[in-house]
Amino acid sequence: MEQGITQPSVKSQHLWWQNGVIYQIYPRSFQDSNGDGVGDLQGIISRLDYLQWLGVDCVWLSPIFSSPMADFGYDISDYQGIHPLFGTMEDFDELLGEVHNRGMKLLLDLVPNHTSDQHPWFLESRSSKDNPKRDWYIWHDGKADGGLPNNWLSVFGGHAWEWDEVTQQYYYHAFLKEQPDLNWRNPQVQEAMMNVMRFWLDKGIEGFRVDVMWHMVKDEQLRDNPPFPGSTFDPNDLIYDHYTPVYSTDQPEVHEIVHMMRAVTDEYDDRVLIGEIYLPIHKLVTYYGQDNKGAHLPFNFQLLTLPWDAPAIAMAIDEYEGALPAEGWPNWVLGNHDKPRISSRVGREQAKVAALLLLTLRGTPTIYYGDEIGMRDVAIPMNEIVDPQGLNMPDLNISRDPARTPMQWSGEINAGFSTHKPWLRLPFNSGRVNVEKQKGDMYSKLHFYRKLISLRKEHAALNVGSYRPIYADQQLISYVRESGNERFLIVLNLSHRPAYFKPRQESYSGTVILGTEIERIGMQVEDIITLGGDEGLLIRLS
Ligand code: GLC
Repeated sequence: MEQGITQPSVKSQHLWWQNGVIYQIYPRSFQDSNGDGVGDLQGIISRLDYLQWLGVDCVWLSPIFSSPMADFGYDISDYQGIHPLFGTMEDFDELLGEVHNRGMKLLLDLVPNHTSDQHPWFLESRSSKDNPKRDWYIWHDGKADGGLPNNWLSVFGGHAWEWDEVTQQYYYHAFLKEQPDLNWRNPQVQEAMMNVMRFWLDKGIEGFRVDVMWHMVKDEQLRDNPPFPGSTFDPNDLIYDHYTPVYSTDQPEVHEIVHMMRAVTDEYDDRVLIGEIYLPIHKLVTYYGQDNKGAHLPFNFQLLTLPWDAPAIAMAIDEYEGALPAEGWPNWVLGNHDKPRISSRVGREQAKVAALLLLTLRGTPTIYYGDEIGMRDVAIPMNEIVDPQGLNMPDLNISRDPARTPMQWSGEINAGFSTHKPWLRLPFNSGRVNVEKQKGDMYSKLHFYRKLISLRKEHAALNVGSYRPIYADQQLISYVRESGNERFLIVLNLSHRPAYFKPRQESYSGTVILGTEIERIGMQVEDIITLGGDEGLLIRLS
């Protein structure tokens, strides 16, 4: 038997979040139950049977908490309250029960870096310089000449410092001015947020996805960020990406906070801590923490950010596998509410190849709602943009609305999402591209996803088995997954042209158990495999 670069493992030794599949729901857009055009918790409950049919193990909800909605729920005014748009705490309890009744898990979004400016903590903090909560946020005097404390910019455009007329100081906000950053160096802030975690964990949720984990601690001296190397830009542009945020993010002390969050998670059995982190691989993996006491899963966004190019992807997978700490569990994300949808980014033809990649790589996969039916970014007319990132920087074409549109359930009015005009428009083709249609079509993306998820569940090799790269060229990537006496070869053509799989040193023979073209299933392959453009194969090796 060949030796994988990671040891084959036995399924029973793994935890649910290692061999399961995570499904992200953007609650505003999943299902509306009360006819206001915005999705809600009862809506989600009514669609749980679908998720069970699809085969996902765990549902992560973007924020459902009290919020003025300046950033659609990522500006929280009460961490322990449910926004009335989504329902009540009773609805939440019912949802959690119904998720558990179906043998699934529920994760919530924890947004600890910042609160809403309407949060009572901030209202107190800004009320006077000597308020006991003053130090809960990042307040600073201007420079002697009255200038801003430093050159840090907001991710959503403009300066990251907001002047407070009443107390004559600036406060820092990495995102909107309505989202002031908490001061995580303050032990009271730490304690308060750990108690928020306990509140939800006590209720029985299985864990958290932690928002902007790498932002939580900033340089104590507030040093200026350097300009992005080589960029020639107008300093008046105030665009976040024109600087390298070496002092405003990813500070060494953040690991103490992550460690603290993990310790709270570990007060409970079998929970998971996931971190949202956009950093290069070598920095990302540090969030597993010393002795793996950091995040269980620092989200790996490479498939979202890399060009769809076979050598680049093959290299990134290997680099990631190589950089993981010994006990660090890998994970892969193909879509989320902040980035263009995969079908729009790589094109319809490659969507199934991308699914095959996501669901056969080693590590926990996260699926973004609607990607399983190939939903694309919806063209939102300029006067309908609601995302602050899109509104603040209209020329950059970076509104996130197109990837947040309502789930396309059926050919009914508003695609079965709502009886009311939805908060974001649907695409013109939702009568054709929807769950109902695809359920009735064995060749659809939906059935492809469902089959893949079930194969992954059935075969330990595909979820927890070892990973070994075989061969990559300008068009193809290929690898073997193995556990016990089961071996699978995955060959993916990331280009539109036909290609030959011709490994140099070994030869492979086996049976196709799933392909992007269903007709391939059951075919025997041996030695050189000829693939069509946009084709991917999952082969059980003999
Ligand atoms: C994260 C969220 C994003 C939000 C931002 C500020 O990146 O995913 O949607 O706007 O944090 O909270």
